[in-house]
Amino acid sequence: MPSNVTRKKLVVGNWKMHGSRAANAVLLSGLKDEGPWNADVAVCVPFPYITETAQALTGQAVAFGAQDCSAHEQGAYTGEVSSAMLADIGCRFVIVGHSERRAYHHESDQLVADKAKAALAHGVTPIVCVGETLAEREAGQTEAVVKRQLAAVIHTLTHCIGEVVVAYEPVWAIGTGLTATPEQAQAVHALLRKQLHAATQKADAMRILYGGSVKLDNAAQLFVQADIDGGLIGGAALKAADFSAICRAAS
Ligand code: PGA
Repeated sequence: MPSNVTRKKLVVGNWKMHGSRAANAVLLSGLKDEGPWNADVAVCVPFPYITETAQALTGQAVAFGAQDCSAHEQGAYTGEVSSAMLADIGCRFVIVGHSERRAYHHESDQLVADKAKAALAHGVTPIVCVGETLAEREAGQTEAVVKRQLAAVIHTLTHCIGEVVVAYEPVWAIGTGLTATPEQAQAVHALLRKQLHAATQKADAMRILYGGSVKLDNAAQLFVQADIDGGLIGGAALKAADFSAICRAAS
């Protein structure tokens, strides 16, 4: 160690179900003025806005992607969007298994793993989210929960696991203003890295992001931890200056 010397930080904005054509134009032009940063940067935006986002980002070192994809290849799945479609329009990333999808859409560990597999099959990098609820943390189940969630993905992707990005997002820290302390986050990241080591020789090169109320004032302390390789940013990704400051903290 330190094992993170070769890992370039990655900061991903998760816009969730926010935005409008007008608001996105302001945000994306703000990012253009703020960048570039010495970190990899991406935005995962609502489906209807991906193409316009791609156009607005032309010539900039900001990648774009989606917030979910189907586990299916194609077919009669009304309302779903395939990873082939995401690849077709140039998406570099897709978030899978966000806790909001696990909670509100009852996505199982296996479905999340299948989505990650579908994305990889089309060259779209899945950002696989794992994380425990407050009740699980208080019951001392954090380790068991995140390991179970990651194990499903490892088992399904086998030797391709090295191609994914993992995001540790404690559910109790998402959108609540509560953040895991840098030490709490690092402890879980180290566990996840260890689990990846047992599955792939690429574990040291893999990026494990932290997400959950990352803001300008806590980003630097989180990003300095040995196994935290950047962030998945929700609320603070909706203002160019705030998101840019977080990208700068990762630089
Ligand atoms: P937050 O969201 O930064 O608003 O807590 C993070 C996420 O859900 O990805």
